[in-house]
Amino acid sequence: MAFDRNELRRVMGHFATGVAVVTTHDGQGRCYGLTANAVSSVSLDPPLVLVCVDKRAESYPAFDRSQVFVVNVLGEHQEELSRRFAVSGGDKFVDLPCRSGGTGAPILEGALAHIECRVVAAHDAGDHTIYVGEVESADAGEGRPLLFFRGRYHQLPRG
Ligand SMILES: Cc1cc2nc3c(=O)[nH]c(=O)nc-3n(C[C@H](O)[C@H](O)[C@H](O)COP(=O)(O)O)c2cc1C
Repeated sequence: MAFDRNELRRVMGHFATGVAVVTTHDGQGRCYGLTANAVSSVSLDPPLVLVCVDKRAESYPAFDRSQVFVVNVLGEHQEELSRRFAVSGGDKFVDLPCRSGGTGAPILEGALAHIECRVVAAHDAGDHTIYVGEVESADAGEGRPLLFFRGRYHQLPRG
């Protein structure tokens, strides 16, 4: 019998993570993105990073087509941005300062860090696809991260 999905979500919620907006494009000038915490560093040599994308997400076809993505790591003051990209559909990039990286995928201004990747492998994994990307560019600035734990946003304690 399959483990109950809501119980798995509750238990996995105890694994505290950062929060990212993973972006891509559709090859015709339109940007897509979603909030994600199923993100991981995989390998340093070669430099590989993975993201898990829900096949039911509206942005999924764009990831599948473009085979590029940017992991935009959110800072502690970007909870509103995380909420914006966690709502399905619509143009989430309205009035959002961003620039195109070498892959054409959008890099969000003001993010704590970004990792730009070209997909080198896509693994079918239940209701998600695991995209493994080779890192093409990456950079990080100063600041503190936005955190997600037990279904809520948090900040690192001060002091
Ligand atoms: C903290 C947080 C983490 C999330 N992590 C993921 C993830 O790793 N992969 C994913 O596909 N969806 C994840 N989601 C859900 C998507 O952000 C959500 O389904 C979004 O509406 C998809 O947008 P779209 O349908 O416009 O593509 C997460 C949501 C939140 C709030």
